Formats: sequence, C-alpha cells, structure tokens
Amino acid sequence: MSKHNLFVGCGNMGQAMAAGWLLAGEDANSFTAVRPSGTPVPGIRTVQRLGEIDRPPDRLILGFKPQQLRDLSSDVARWATRDTVVVSMLAGADMAILRQLFPSARALVRVMPNLPVAVRRGVLPLLASDPEDKALQAELQPWFSMLGFAPWCASEEEFGAIGFVAGSTPAYVARFIAAFAAAGEGRGLDSGLALTAAREAVLGSAWLAATSGEPMAELARRVTSPRGTTEAGLKVLDAELPGLIDRTLGAATSRSAELAAEIRG
Ligand SMILES: NC(=O)c1ccc[n+]([C@@H]2O[C@H](COP(=O)([O-])OP(=O)(O)OC[C@H]3O[C@@H](n4cnc5c(N)ncnc54)[C@H](OP(=O)(O)O)[C@@H]3O)[C@@H](O)[C@H]2O)c1
Repeated sequence: MSKHNLFVGCGNMGQAMAAGWLLAGEDANSFTAVRPSGTPVPGIRTVQRLGEIDRPPDRLILGFKPQQLRDLSSDVARWATRDTVVVSMLAGADMAILRQLFPSARALVRVMPNLPVAVRRGVLPLLASDPEDKALQAELQPWFSMLGFAPWCASEEEFGAIGFVAGSTPAYVARFIAAFAAAGEGRGLDSGLALTAAREAVLGSAWLAATSGEPMAELARRVTSPRGTTEAGLKVLDAELPGLIDRTLGAATSRSAELAAEIRG
C-alpha cells in the first residue's frame, strides 16, 4: 500500500506541491487534504475536519498559516505518532518549536518550497530534526526531488538563506517580466505581444543559464559587445541591482524575524 500523505491546510502552497506530485505520477489516492472551507483540492480527496481521517498518515504536512500553529497543534499532534514524519512548510516555525509541539513524531522535516514546485521546477530546501538519520533522508529524497531542487541543509541558517534566495523569487521575477513588458508597451508594442516577448526572453535566458554550464559573467559577456547597447544598459543595471536585491531580501528577512517572534508568542 502506498504511503498516506495528509495535508493539514492545503491552500496556495499545499496545492502547488500536490499538483507537482500528481504531475510526477504519484498516486492520487496516497493524498488527503484537510480544508475547513471544504473547497476541493484538484485531484485529491478533500475533507473539512481532521476527525474525518480514517487512515493514519505516514507523512503529515502542515500547510496552514504559521500564526495558527499554537491553536491547531494539539489536535494535529494526535496524528503525529512514532510512525509519522511531520513535514512543516510553516515560515518562521523553527525546529525547536516543532519538537516541543510534536514530541511523539517519528521525525520532523522543515521544507520551504517556492511556487514552481507546481511545475516540478521548484527550489525546496529541507531540514531534518535528526541530521544523522540518513535512512530517513534516503527515503524522502526521491519524493521531494519530484518537485525540483531539494537539498538537505546543515543548519537553520542555511535553510533560511536558501529560502530567502528562492522563496519569493517567483514574485520578483513576475515583477521583472511585467516591468520589461511595460517598457515594451511604452515603446509602442501591443500589450499581449510585449508580455509574451518579455516572458519568453526571461524563460529562455533562465533555461540557457541552467543548461549551458557557463559562469553568469561569461553568459553576460556573450551578449555584450564592447561599446554596444547591452553594455550601455548594464552600466545602469549594475549600478542599482546588487544593492536593490540586498535591500529587498533584507526587508523579507526582517519580516520573517517578526513572524517568528509572533509564533514564539
Ligand atoms: N505561499 C508561499 O509562497 C509559501 C512559500 C513557503 C511556505 N509557505 C507556507 O505555507 C503555508 C500556507 O501558505 P499559503 O500561502 O498556502 O496559505 P493559504 O493559501 O492561505 O492556505 C492556508 C490553508 O490553511 C487552511 N486552514 C485554515 N484554517 C485551518 C484549520 N483550522 N485547520 C486546517 N487547515 C486550515 C486553509 O483552508 P481553506 O482553504 O479551507 O481556507 C488553507 O487551505 C504557510 O505556513 C506559509 O508560511 C508559503
């Protein structure tokens, strides 16, 4: 019988993960989702209450909001037995809090997925409660890798840093594409054509960056003729971009610290 994977809360991110696993060919019957609204999660059995679960989960995936953790944990902990791996995607809920709330679980795993898990090209750092439990890592690695790049991290710091580099990137890239499209419109392009051109240019460039094996500086150099147009553009971009990205990630990091403090209470 396949493993039973139970989502407690399955909104934006839970659904993205479920979509990725189904796309990878995972058995739809191995998933159940709890959603109080009863809104069905496409492709998998959805119930409104934990009380409706009839089969203990092998993997219990926490997919509600971090602020709900303390209120929901005692109900959820009943299902987190010594046969259950608790997988938490909750931002800001560190391993110490999870250990305290789910003391009987077989193991705890933190995951910080980004939205492209839905198309199996996500980045999803993983952190295990027992880094020495290599058997658990070997068991879970193929499952998480179905969703994209899934590295095991050595510390909360490494886990957090990968989350910051990758977690919000889909939003930042969406803004980047929209800004290029707007610039195209400003130069007289039809809006649909401008958006398609910008989106495909970003997709193709990312694809090339991922597959060519060249250093990023070399890729940029191949597009940059001396005294040419790209060189002129890069002079402006390079003056702003590193500082801008640093300030952007800094703001996200500060907000994460505030959220973590709220969870600790
Ligand atoms: N969005 C991201 O990019 C992202 C990235 C990494 C990690 N995360 C983490 O993922 C988690 C969910 O975020 P999200 O963006 O997916 O939020 P969301 O779309 O608001 O989903 C929250 C889910 O929790 C469910 N829920 C609410 N009350 C519940 C209860 N009492 N018992 C069980 N389930 C309950 C909701 O049910 P209904 O659907 O019925 O309302 C919904 O399915 C958060 O902890 C967040 O930190 C999100």
